[in-house]
Formats: sequence, structure tokens, C-alpha cells
Amino acid sequence: MEKLMIRGGRPLRGTVQISGAKNSAVALVPAAILAESEVILDNLPLISDVAVYSEILQELGATVSRKDDVMRINPANLRSVPMPNGKVKLLRASYYLMGALLGRFGEATIGMPGGCNFEPRPIDQHIKGFEALGATVVNEHGSMKIFAKQLRGAKIYLDVASVGATINIMLAASRAKGSTIIENAAKEPEIIDVATLLNAMGAVIKGAGTETIRIEGVDKLHGCRHSIIPDRIQAGTYMIAAAATRGDVLIDNVIPKHLEAITAKLEEMGVEVHELDESIRIIGKDSYSPIDVKALVYPGFATDLQSPMTTLLTQAAGVSILTDYVYGTRFKHVPELARMGANIRVEGRSAIIEGGKLNAAKVKAADLRAGAALVIAALTVDNDITEITGVEYIDRGYDDLDEKLRLLGAEVWREQEE
Ligand code: EPU
Repeated sequence: MEKLMIRGGRPLRGTVQISGAKNSAVALVPAAILAESEVILDNLPLISDVAVYSEILQELGATVSRKDDVMRINPANLRSVPMPNGKVKLLRASYYLMGALLGRFGEATIGMPGGCNFEPRPIDQHIKGFEALGATVVNEHGSMKIFAKQLRGAKIYLDVASVGATINIMLAASRAKGSTIIENAAKEPEIIDVATLLNAMGAVIKGAGTETIRIEGVDKLHGCRHSIIPDRIQAGTYMIAAAATRGDVLIDNVIPKHLEAITAKLEEMGVEVHELDESIRIIGKDSYSPIDVKALVYPGFATDLQSPMTTLLTQAAGVSILTDYVYGTRFKHVPELARMGANIRVEGRSAIIEGGKLNAAKVKAADLRAGAALVIAALTVDNDITEITGVEYIDRGYDDLDEKLRLLGAEVWREQEE
């Protein structure tokens, strides 16, 4: 196993290119199997979650090839093979195989998803959706066996506006008979991206990005070419890192509209933010005001930026309160930040953060975004080396992290763990 070594204290300066969105990619790759001919995905991020997904599709019989950020998926000869164990356990987003295989073949057996388990992450709303579409769902020794003679459109109200359930239902319903309406659908940009791909494949989906999505089922879907939207969480992470190191960074290849919540919060702290057409410039300041942040569903402040934001709030002069209304216990970064000298108390769904200087330490990333929080913390420590283990979590979502940071002037390298 590798560990990430960071000698901090240098303000980040320069331009960083943002890759395609991880949380789109891990839905678009399985969505491609609903087609019966080749799907080409452009702007794909080079992250381990996507690599694992491409291996899973090959195990199911698809032909998958990749050159740089372009992936070609030909699912013509794909079969619905039961996948109770193995690679599906490595990914949270393997649950999208349920909707995709169910839509194409009327059956799927998939082991319960793994991935970043920062708290219990139920999939009851996914199952509720499949059942409403006429499927039978059986839990067989920890695997979900889902089957239907004929999926039929239905009206489905989600009890929570779940990103995964919304996408999974869109996948299955796009090949059901008749119309499906999802009420209280999630509105995240990645949902629009999946609907755009499915529509390019011949599906009929309207309303993605609003709380009501209508899907007219079709008999067959065909191949197409689609470019993945920029990763708003990766962009937000570099925005936060630029501010935390008091740097000056142009975050390029972004959709500024997707970054409104983080932009507003950075400005509230006193960070200088310039919005351009497809980029955002962050100019850090010497002192920041403490603020309150509430992580909510989109277009609210993203829960995935909650951990990196915790680190930035340690740089403010005073007490900030950060409350996560999406995941109430997503605080695995807090004890590690405390090892680095942070003064943070968790009360219920809130972290109460008192600003102060951080010091170098040996810390462990327990999940992807906790890892991002530690990387940013390490970058702020004056001329001392922080060692971060659990790098495999970070590599699940941040492509080319070391190189991107080095291009911004950071001192980052990897060593083998003893
Ligand atoms: N929920 C339920 N039942 C369900 C589904 C969700 O109660 O059936 C609850 C969850 O426990 C949570 C809330 O609903 O409290 C929202 O969960 P959601 O289903 O929206 O999350 P997800 O689809 O599993 C995606 C991202 C996460 C991101 C969340 C919230 C992917 C692969 N993952 O997860 O991304 O935190 O939406 O925006 O798209 C990450 O990138 O680090 C990450 C964890």
C-alpha cells in the first residue's frame, strides 16, 4: 500500500484542469449496457472506481476499451450474470447494475454494494422503485435478486430525494412498458447527465433536474456518443484547497452554475472568487471570517464538500458550525484533523470548528472525501511533512491528484507503507 506525503506551507498557484464527474461516470458506464450497440463516453475521469466498473462490464460480456479519457462500451453480447461477490463489493455505485440489468434483461442478482461506508447507506428507495415497476426483489444471503416478467411504468414518490434511487429508477423505467413518474426526485446535475445520455440512446425522459421526472418506456435503446459533465466536487475541492493555502488558482473546465453554493460560502468567509465562462479563479486571503454551513441536497451545499470545508473552516478566525443534513454522521475526518491540531467538536449532525493552526501528523483517510480534507489540511501546514494512509480511497475519486497538486506548486509524493 502507498502513502501520500505532503510537505505543506506553499500557496497553490496556477491552473488546474477539472476532469469529468465521478458520480456521473459511475452511473453512465452501467447505463451504457441498456443499449444494444456501442456507447462512447468522452471526458471520463481516470479514477479507480471507473476502472473497476469497466472490469465488471467485461465480466458480464461487454467489450470495453479505453484511450485517454474516451471509453467505448459495446454491450451487444452482454448477459445478466449473477454477481453476488467480487468486484461489485468494491463500489458503492455497483447498485446501478441493478437498474441497468433489470431494464435490459428483466433480471439482476447483485451483491450489496461496498465503497465509502462512512455511515449506513440504505437502498430501500431503490427497491421501492423496482417493486413499483413490477419487479420482485429478494434478499438472498446478502445479494439482491431482482426480476420481472415485464416492467410496467408507475408513479413513484421517493421518501428521500435520493440520487442513486432516482438514477436507478430512470435506468429500469426507460425500458419498461408505459410511463413512469418519479416524484420528489433528486435534482443533482449528475441526474441530468444520465438522462441526457439515455435520451441520446433513444429513451424519452423529461424533467431531469426538477423534482418530477417523466419517463416513457421504449422497447430498445441504441448506442451514441456522450461527453461527461465536469466534476463539481473535484472543482469545489480545489477551490477550497486554493483558499486554505492562501493561493491563487484558476479552476478550469467547470460549470460555474454547479458551484454556486460553494462559491457563495467562500465569498462569505472573505475569499475572492471570480466566475468566468468555464472557469473560476480563487484568490485566497490572509484572514477568513467563521461561517455556518448546512450541507443539503442540490442546489444546497454538497455533502461531498462537507469534509474538505471542515478543513478550510479551521483556517477561519473564530467558531464555525457545519451541519450535514444529508449524512448525519459523516465525520470520519474529524478525529484525524484533531491529530493535526484542529479544535473540532461533533454534536449530533454538526461539527463545531474553532479556527487555529494545524500541524503535521500521521493520519489515515477513512473515506474519499475525508481523504480530501486531510490532503488540504496537510497543504496548509508550514514546512512540515504529513503522511496520509488510506490513499486508495482518495484514488477512487480524484484522478491524477499528485500531479495536479504538483503543477500548482505543492510538494507531494508517494512512498510505500512499511
Ligand atoms: N437514502 C435512504 N434510502 C435510500 C437511498 C438513500 O434513506 O434508498 C438516504 C441516505 O441515507 C442519505 C440520503 O438518502 O441520507 C441521500 O442519499 P443518496 O441516495 O442521494 O446518496 P447516493 O446516491 O448513495 C450519491 C453520491 C454520494 C453523495 C450522495 C449525496 C454516487 C455514486 N454517490 O450517493 O457521493 O454523497 O449522492 O449527494 O453518486 C462521494 O462522491 O464521496 C459520495 C459519497
